[in-house]
Order: sequence, then structure tokens, then C-alpha cells
Amino acid sequence: MSSLALPVTDPELEARLRARMAVVEEALDSHVRSEAAFVTEAARHLMQAGGKRFRPLLVLLAAETGDQADSDDIITAACVVELTHLASLYHDDVMDEADLRRGAASANARWDNHVAILTGDFLFSKSSELTAGLGPGGVRIQAQTFTRLVEGQILETLGPGEGDDPLEHYLRVVAGKTGSLIATSAQYGAIYSGATSDVEAALTEYGEKVGVAFQLSDDILDIASESHESGKTPGTDLREGVLTLPTLIAMRSQDPADHRLKTLLSQDLSDDDLHAETLALIRQHPAMDEARRYVSGLANEAKELLKVLPDGPVRAALDAFADVVATRSA
Ligand code: FPP
Ligand code: MG
Repeated sequence: MSSLALPVTDPELEARLRARMAVVEEALDSHVRSEAAFVTEAARHLMQAGGKRFRPLLVLLAAETGDQADSDDIITAACVVELTHLASLYHDDVMDEADLRRGAASANARWDNHVAILTGDFLFSKSSELTAGLGPGGVRIQAQTFTRLVEGQILETLGPGEGDDPLEHYLRVVAGKTGSLIATSAQYGAIYSGATSDVEAALTEYGEKVGVAFQLSDDILDIASESHESGKTPGTDLREGVLTLPTLIAMRSQDPADHRLKTLLSQDLSDDDLHAETLALIRQHPAMDEARRYVSGLANEAKELLKVLPDGPVRAALDAFADVVATRSA
């Protein structure tokens, strides 16, 4: 592991997290092996393409709040959340018809939809097998998380119903598809390190908020970034007709100058020229800054929850984690 996806100022904590991430990385590699060589290749494809490993890192960091941060269950829990996440990416890229992920060809682009879907299933079943080692409590949490992930994804696909506020609907989607698994990462870290139930509750809520902030900043990046920065194709959400925080804020504008943008956002954007025009208009719209402010607000709320922890390097690192997520550029 070359570097951690978050700044840890305490050298001892950094060294410990780095060493534990290396153990997680090795464990992940062993868990994606199958007796069928092709399955191993397909399952390794996205894992080896990179990724920030935010979720397992959060498990390790949250585990520092208990007195058994070094337990084997922590490594298992870190693998469970990363494999669940990885599984969902294989499926997500099929639904989005994405061709790029983590700077590499997505599995559906490199092979086909069937391979991508079944590889996602394989990774999800590996993750489920591992939860058995955590006992019924751990299995229940993962199952509930899976339910929320899928519900979030379905709600996104359906779009807001009659009378639903589009922004509220979107925030529900985001809480389900991303908040849930990041909340579980923090919760697992607390539980399997033996943290108190107060700390477990605070970290779970912290994870949920950080998770929502993480997805919102991902949605902002989908508009703002160039593909060489994000490893994905920019403007994918627009092309798929999915309105996210910046576009939903712009849609609320009553300013006549926004008429063209709002008209574009209400129509099919699979045409390259219309897509490029919309992307250019939204990129320089004040809604982008408003969206960023909303994300920073969430990160601040998450940091407030850390008051349950004593001052020190662990709390400072969790604080930094919330900030990194809110201001990420990739
Ligand atoms: C990425 O979001 C996708 C998710 C966070 C979750 C997707 C969930 C499913 C497909 C449900 C199935 C789950 C499993 C475990 C098999 P995005 O498309 O907004 O972000 P992107 O820019 O990374 O594509
Ligand atoms: Mg996607």
C-alpha cells in the first residue's frame, strides 16, 4: 500500500493503519480467488485497477476507538465492506452502461454484461461467506446494508414519484446506495474492536453522514472533473438522465437566465452536442458552489458527532477523514 487515502498526522497511527491496510490488501487478494481461472481474473480486474479503499480504511480507523483494534474480526470486516462495495460497482457499471472505472475498462466493457453481473454476484457471495465468521450480529448488519444498497439503487432507477420533492428523493437514494455501507464500515470497526455502545452509535451516524457527503462529492465530481482525474467518464449521470445535487439545485432556479439549462436538464441528453452544452452550462453555474457548501455542512455535522471520543490522534484522523471526503478532487 503506497499511501493512505487520508492525511494522518500522528506517525504511530499512520504506521499502524498502513500495516493493517497491507494485511487487508493481502486478505482481499486471497478472497477473490476462485477455482475457475476466468472468475479470478474477472473478480480481480477492478480490485487491481485501484480504488481508494475508503471503506476498509474507515473500519480500521473506527477500530482504533476500541481496545481490540488488532482483532482478526476487524480484518474480516474490512474485507466484507470492500467486497460488497466492489460487487456493487460491477452491477452499477452495467446499469450505467459505463465503459470506464478506476481508469480501466469496466467489466461490462471489457467482457460483457453477463460476466459483469455474475462477477458482482460472485464478489457479493464471497463477502457474505466472510460475514459468517463475524457471527449472526455481523450477518444481520450486512444483510440490512445490502437491502438499503439495493433499495437506494432501485429508487434512483425509478426516479421521484408523483408529489415527491426531487431533492428529498435524491437524498434518500444517496443515503441508501452509499450512506448505508459507509455507516456499516464505521459500525463494524466500533463493534469488533470492543468500543462502547455510545461510541458505536456515534460512529454509525458519523459514517452515514460521511457516506452521504462522499456520494454527493462524487456526484459533483462527475460534473466537474476530467476523466483523467476521476478514472471515470465525466457527465455520466447527465447522459443517464440522473439528476444529482448540482443539477437539482439548478432546476430550482427561477432566474430566466437558467431557462436553457433547465430545458436541457429536462430532456434526453444522449446526443453528444446537447450533452456537452449542458455540461458546460452546469459547470459554471452557482449551483456547483451551493452543492459544495451543502457537502461541507454535512462533514461538519459528522465531525460534531466525534465529540463522544477523547481528543487525540484517532479523533483527529476521523475528523480529517470527514474533511477529505467533503473536499475530494478524485
Ligand atoms: C455507485 O454509484 C454505486 C453504488 C454506490 C451502489 C450501487 C448498488 C447496487 C448496484 C446494488 C447492488 C449491490 C450489490 C452489493 C451487488 P454511482 O453510479 O452514483 O457512482 P459512480 O460514479 O462511481 O458510478
Ligand atoms: Mg455509476
